[in-house]
Amino acid sequence: MSILLDIKNRRAIRDYDGQEVEDEKIYKLLEAATWAPNDRMREPWTFYVVKGDAKRKYNQLAEDYLKERFPTKPNLIESSLKVVKNTPVQIIVTSDIIPGDEDATKDNEFAVCCAIHAMWLAAHELGLGFVWRTRGVGLVHDERLYQFIGSPEHKKVIGNLFIGYPDPEALKKAKTPTRTSFEEKTIWLGDSQ
Ligand SMILES: Cc1cc2nc3c(=O)[nH]c(=O)nc-3n(C[C@H](O)[C@H](O)[C@H](O)COP(=O)(O)O)c2cc1C
Repeated sequence: MSILLDIKNRRAIRDYDGQEVEDEKIYKLLEAATWAPNDRMREPWTFYVVKGDAKRKYNQLAEDYLKERFPTKPNLIESSLKVVKNTPVQIIVTSDIIPGDEDATKDNEFAVCCAIHAMWLAAHELGLGFVWRTRGVGLVHDERLYQFIGSPEHKKVIGNLFIGYPDPEALKKAKTPTRTSFEEKTIWLGDSQ
């Protein structure tokens, strides 16, 4: 195993084959998350695993959202909803808000992002498809998602993770996104290379 290769080969996978994800694999993702670096060991994450009845409720929430947002685009509603319904499990991840301490609250969010990346890499190793969604049916910036998880106090939603076994056909067609070289994104302060 090479960490560098795994980092490069991890992909956002949005199409699943409908197979359930075993709880043992979900535990492994959650465990990977808990080993993420975090400031002062505040371990600021909470995970809401959405399966079964809760998943059916989520699908309804997504449908209501799509109908409200795109009332004149039935095809878009149908295709987006198909994606949601085909996703066997979602994990919503929050970060603790520390009242009166904006800096620590921000650091908590950074730690939760690290935790999500750890889960994503673990999913890759376990042969699971995974995508961190915020927009659209991810609903991360929507008040309805907070209500869905029980409106917890002092928690900010950071990610809605869609997880399932990859659809092999979609995988074959998927294009690997390219990356801009780090050379174009790096400013060496001090001695030049
Ligand atoms: C913070 C964040 C939010 C994202 N939100 C979405 C989203 O709402 N919908 C989606 O399809 N993908 C989303 N993605 C996945 C990106 O689109 C994906 O990582 C990017 O296209 C690069 O592809 P790769 O992950 O396969 O390298 C998000 C990724 C991150 C890190």
